[in-house]
Order: sequence, then structure tokens, then C-alpha cells
Amino acid sequence: MPETARTLRSLIRAKLGDHKFVTVSNREPYVHVRQDGKVSWSRPASGLTVALDPLMQVCRGLWVAHGSGAADWEVSDASGRVQVPPDRPAYTLKRIRLTEEQERLYYDGFANSALWPLCHVAYQRPAFLQEHWDGYRQVNELFADRIAEELGNRPAFVFVQDYHFALLPKMLRERNPKALIAHFWHIPWPNAEVFRICPWKQEILEGMLGSNILGFHIRNHCLNFIETVDRELEARPDRELTAIVYQGRTTRIRAFPISIDFDNISEQAASWKMRKASAALRSAYHVKPDQWLGLGVDRLDYTKGIPERLHALDLFFERHPQYHGRLVFVQVGVPTRVHLEEYRMLSEHVDRKVEEINSKYGTENWKPVVYLRAQFELPVLIALYRQARFLIVSSLHDGMNLVAKEYVASQTEGGGVLILSRFTGAARELSDALLINPYSPDEIAEKIREALEMDSDEVCRRMTKMRERVRENNIYKWAGSILKKLSRLT
Ligand code: F6P
Repeated sequence: MPETARTLRSLIRAKLGDHKFVTVSNREPYVHVRQDGKVSWSRPASGLTVALDPLMQVCRGLWVAHGSGAADWEVSDASGRVQVPPDRPAYTLKRIRLTEEQERLYYDGFANSALWPLCHVAYQRPAFLQEHWDGYRQVNELFADRIAEELGNRPAFVFVQDYHFALLPKMLRERNPKALIAHFWHIPWPNAEVFRICPWKQEILEGMLGSNILGFHIRNHCLNFIETVDRELEARPDRELTAIVYQGRTTRIRAFPISIDFDNISEQAASWKMRKASAALRSAYHVKPDQWLGLGVDRLDYTKGIPERLHALDLFFERHPQYHGRLVFVQVGVPTRVHLEEYRMLSEHVDRKVEEINSKYGTENWKPVVYLRAQFELPVLIALYRQARFLIVSSLHDGMNLVAKEYVASQTEGGGVLILSRFTGAARELSDALLINPYSPDEIAEKIREALEMDSDEVCRRMTKMRERVRENNIYKWAGSILKKLSRLT
């Protein structure tokens, strides 16, 4: 039986005891803004927050995050606390206020201009600036202080998320030695050769080794991390136990592939309301009933391989004129990290390439690429997923990729073909997808043809197998396994 919200709730009751449960991430799960004079809220485009929110609703803990919304402070109390989800409160969000300068140095700077390109092998050179590093350390300290104030001397499970907080586990341990700390790194961990160029590599590794459990999506990233520590620190790696002993403390390194709330998405997808909304989307995007709809849904990030995919689409139309007028490719591009030059350049590049394809092949009655540069709520995405004959995920490197899993969960009738980069964590579980090397436009173009021409039994066979895997390995199983591991250490 797959894990569910209910089984996770019982597990939490049994395992948490008197421990306080705290999650820490940079991105907050709900953002308040002011629109037309009124305060409204939305959910950010972040796989991490979407994945963790159902878990927090179940365990009713405390979520500490950067308060990034312009109206966040109007709805929070003096210590930054607000009950969320705003429409049916289930847990507490504690917002941490950062100055613009702190945000620039820690988030745009060290996190996204140094660690992000360092950990993703996408051939984007990392920038290592002393002021970014100082800002990053300062913000990690600030979070450590605020969390320590919350915990006092109480025993706690602290669940730290991602590369924004590499230093936090050690800082928390110094402030509250009783805390049990799990740190989950949501992006890849590169091999030791790549990581060695980071000027502050030792501090980063020592910071992460402050946790009791360090999680990555796949085993390969665990092994890369152990190899890196072996090279850089006087530590004792235990490859058999996949653990590291450093300064007398043990950190267990484990793979926990993150996932989605499969049942919830699947139920939404199967509902009558969704079927209606889904059909209506076709006409909204000028896709006729006899045309195939192909889909891409990504943050506008250079690791996602969007130019590579558009190049392949161009090649596909060049080689297969019989599909002119028969396929509309809808690309959703969610603006992200817009203060950074590389992201602005990527966005312009995508604009140009879409225009190029549309003017090269388009006709009065047919626009080959519909580009939606916007963020959509999950129900709209589910509606789109349902209409898509195929979804392309062509990431050059990706820790997991939850869009691939959302697409699978939305195919309640077993339709749809997933074209998936081999360089995503998701490819390990979703081996019934059409796997691609995103650096090969010829291969992607060929798989697009295959996706359109695959017979319906084969489509259904592959999709059914992928659905079984995602149903089984859902978000509750991910959270439950981490919690079980952590509770064994009490
Ligand atoms: O995948 C890493 C990650 O930080 C996720 O946690 C999140 O889904 C995504 O990138 C969004 O990035 P940001 O929070 O910078 O908008």
C-alpha cells in the first residue's frame, strides 16, 4: 500500500514524541502581495515548496523561510508568524526579513551565482566573490539565531532544505546540541574534480556535516559527496554504511528521491471540472481538435535545456513537413531569478528562438509554438498536462524534476508520452519514458516523432508503469523515510 497523508500522520505521531518539527527553506510556501490596493496571496514556482507543503499540513510544524512578498509583513505578527495555507490554516510559517543587500549577496550572489552553476553541470561558470560568501554566511547565521530562539532547549527535528543553507546544520548544532538535523540537498552534487574549485569548500562541507542525515535525490550524488569529503577533509568515509565520521560525529548520507502528492494530482486530473477546463484550454491556445499538443513547463533557467529543445523542434519541423499544421508546441516559461544577467540572456534567447520557428514554419492558420511566459497555478498546469500528447523535459542537469512526475500523475487514462532527459534524477525512476540526451538535437527530434507515432497500447503500457512507480514513491513516502531514519537516532 502506498504511503498517504494518513499513514504519514500516524508515523509522525508515533515518532515525533515531544520533538518540535521545524522545516527551513529559503523560499516560502505562500507569498503575500498587494494588488489593486488589496492584499492577496500566491504560491511560488518552486518544486520544493509544492512538495513540502502537504507534508507540513500533515505534521502541523513550523516552517521558517525568507519573507519575500511585498505584503508579507502586513499579514504576519511582530515575529513574522502567519498561519498557512491562508485559506485553510494548518501550520505556522515564520518569515525572516532580509535586507535587499542581504538578498543580493546571499540569494542572487553565493547561492545562485556560485553554488547553483557549480553543482549543475550545465557549463555555466560559477562566480566566487568574497562579498557574496560573507553575505551567505551572515544570512545562515541569522536563520540559525532565529531558529535557536524558537527552539530554546527543546528537543527538535529540524529539516533544512537545499543549497541556500549549507552552513546552517553546523550553526544549529552549536546552538542546540539536542536537535536532530536532516539536510536535504535538492540539486545535484557534482564530482570532486568539479567541486574542488570552490574557494570555501571546506567550510561548506563542514557546515553540511553538522547534520545527522544528509539527503540527496540519487545514490550517485551521495557517492560524489563522499568522494568530495574524502578529498577535502580529514574525515573517515564509511562507504559500506554510506556515512562520514568527522570530528567524532557521524553523518549518514542517503538517497531519498523526492516526489509529488500523486493521489491529489490524480484526483484533480480525473475530476469532471478538470476535464472541462482542460478541453477549454485547447481553444484558448488555438490548438484545433485534430492537432497534437506538445508541452514544455519550466522555470526559465539555463539548466532546463529550453534552447536545446526549441532547436530540436526546429529540426523536427524541417525533417518532417508532414507535421506542419498538425503539432502545436506549448512552452510555459516561468520567469525566475530575474536580477541575474544569465537568466535575462536566456529569456531573450528563448523569445528569439520562438519567433524564429514561428516565422519559419507558421502560416495564417497555424502557429507552431505558443509561448506562455508566465506562472500558472497547479490546476491550470494539470489541465495542460492532460491535453499534451507529449511533455518534454530536456534538463541539462536536474536534481529530480517534479514536472515530469506531475505530468505522469495527470494522465489518468494512461495517455501521454514523457520525453525525459537522462540527466534528471527522475530518469532513474521513470525509465519507461523516452529517454534523451538533451545535448543531441537529432535525438530529441527523433523522439518527438516517436512520441507522435507510438501506438496507443504502447503509450498506455509505458504510462501505466510510470504511474505505478510515482503512486508508490510519492511525497509521503519521501518524508516518511527521512523521518524514520531520523527518529532511529533519538
Ligand atoms: O531545485 C532547486 C530549487 O531551489 C528548488 O528548491 C526550487 O524548486 C527551485 O530551485 C526554485 O528556485 P527559486 O527558489 O530560486 O525560485
